[in-house]
Amino acid sequence: MLKSFDVLQSLCKRRGFIFQSSEIYGGLASCWDYGPLGVELKNNIKKLWWKSMVHNRQDIVGLDSSILMNPQVWIASGHVENFNDPMVDCKSCKARFRQDELPAEKLKEKTCIKCGNKGTLTEPRQFNLMFRTFMGPVEDEGARVYLRPETAQGIFVNFVNVQTTTRKKLPFGIAQMGKSFRNEITPKNFIFRTREFEQMEMEFFVMPGDDEKWHKYWVDERFNWYTKLGINKNKLRIRPHGKDELSHYSKATSDIEYEFPIGWSEIEGIANRTDFDLKQHAKHSKQELSYFDPEQNKHITPYVIEPAAGVDRLFLTFMTDSYTEEKVKDETRVALKLHYELAPIKFAVLPLLKKRNDIVELATKLRNELNSIGYSVYDDTASIGKLYRRQDEIGTPYCVTVDVQTVEEDKKVTIRERDTMEQIRVPTDQLLSVTHDLATKGWTETTKTIPKWTNQST
Ligand code: GAP
Repeated sequence: MLKSFDVLQSLCKRRGFIFQSSEIYGGLASCWDYGPLGVELKNNIKKLWWKSMVHNRQDIVGLDSSILMNPQVWIASGHVENFNDPMVDCKSCKARFRQDELPAEKLKEKTCIKCGNKGTLTEPRQFNLMFRTFMGPVEDEGARVYLRPETAQGIFVNFVNVQTTTRKKLPFGIAQMGKSFRNEITPKNFIFRTREFEQMEMEFFVMPGDDEKWHKYWVDERFNWYTKLGINKNKLRIRPHGKDELSHYSKATSDIEYEFPIGWSEIEGIANRTDFDLKQHAKHSKQELSYFDPEQNKHITPYVIEPAAGVDRLFLTFMTDSYTEEKVKDETRVALKLHYELAPIKFAVLPLLKKRNDIVELATKLRNELNSIGYSVYDDTASIGKLYRRQDEIGTPYCVTVDVQTVEEDKKVTIRERDTMEQIRVPTDQLLSVTHDLATKGWTETTKTIPKWTNQST
């Protein structure tokens, strides 16, 4: 339904989901700020991931490790040596490309895809993607540290701390969310590929030999997470990596891909990292990073299955998938048909007349009560038709309207559902129980026995 990211980018700016970073200074390439609605959606994505990974299970615990780590970590992990993108420069127009962005025949002719000149491209050179900085007052080699390019390593170096304090037995996992940084050569496509982004990663430690079974388990588990949150199944696929694509630590990786306006693209990778990381850290730190298996009465190094997703990329996925345009009468209605749990605002309480104190007071009181069910707002800044359209466009599943009839006649309010635009009338003293049902069971189930109507003008 969404034809290009430009449409989404303009909605995000207009409605306060995402702004360009440092916009008043002309911005900073590929850096973005999440506005009032964006931060809500982002937090909801993280909360739902954490709930499914940590709180709903007994075999995974959480961690929040620091972004800056001892630089030895990145030598041991292989990132200093291997976390490179081969790149090519145009000597004529100074453009820089990732080698894999250039068609084979252009590379052969050394033809620049920007300025069109032939024979001006350099040989591919390795470009390390880690951001470097210095710790302390002296900016020399000894003070060099890196901004982490993945959250995973914070988990591996804490493996023994977590295992001994939680007394978890294999198989068990450690989950972590947080910022990662990569000096991407060609960041693009809005928030799809940026230099600063957030990851949600989980390292699941298993007995060697059980790894392939668990790899399959996590691919299925993660695929289902997306469909449960409303992502269209036909727009999702699983793509196993070819041997030449695998990261330096991986024995097998499957990507979950989504069909964006830019084509099928990775949203999450599920890798079988084997015992690579724990063994590397054991070797470089000279510490024992193993697990004592009471059954075999010996120390073993677990294998690791890693589902790794990007918060920002999932943000883009949920926005893209939920974006709809529909003809209503002679105008186009834009609605974000987000799953209730993801929607930034759950209930908007709208007074039909803002000049009537009794209506405004009741609406304000109801918004405060509804907030106990889910994040609710009061809005009286436009006519009711415009307020509905605005809430549709930001994905609010339910609008509650207080009108003259409510205060003068029947003490009932109107609840309007975003996707069907159907409406029901509910006594104010039943509003909390009905909205509780809406939050847990959804519209169709909750309103089975209640008469509905659709008013196309609202
Ligand atoms: N620890 C494994 C790892 O980091 P990855 O495939 O490089 O694997 C995992 O990254 C996920 O992080 C990706 O599927 C993507 O969702 C997100 N991600 C990676 N690089 C990104 C970038 N430059 N901008 C936004 N998201 C990114």
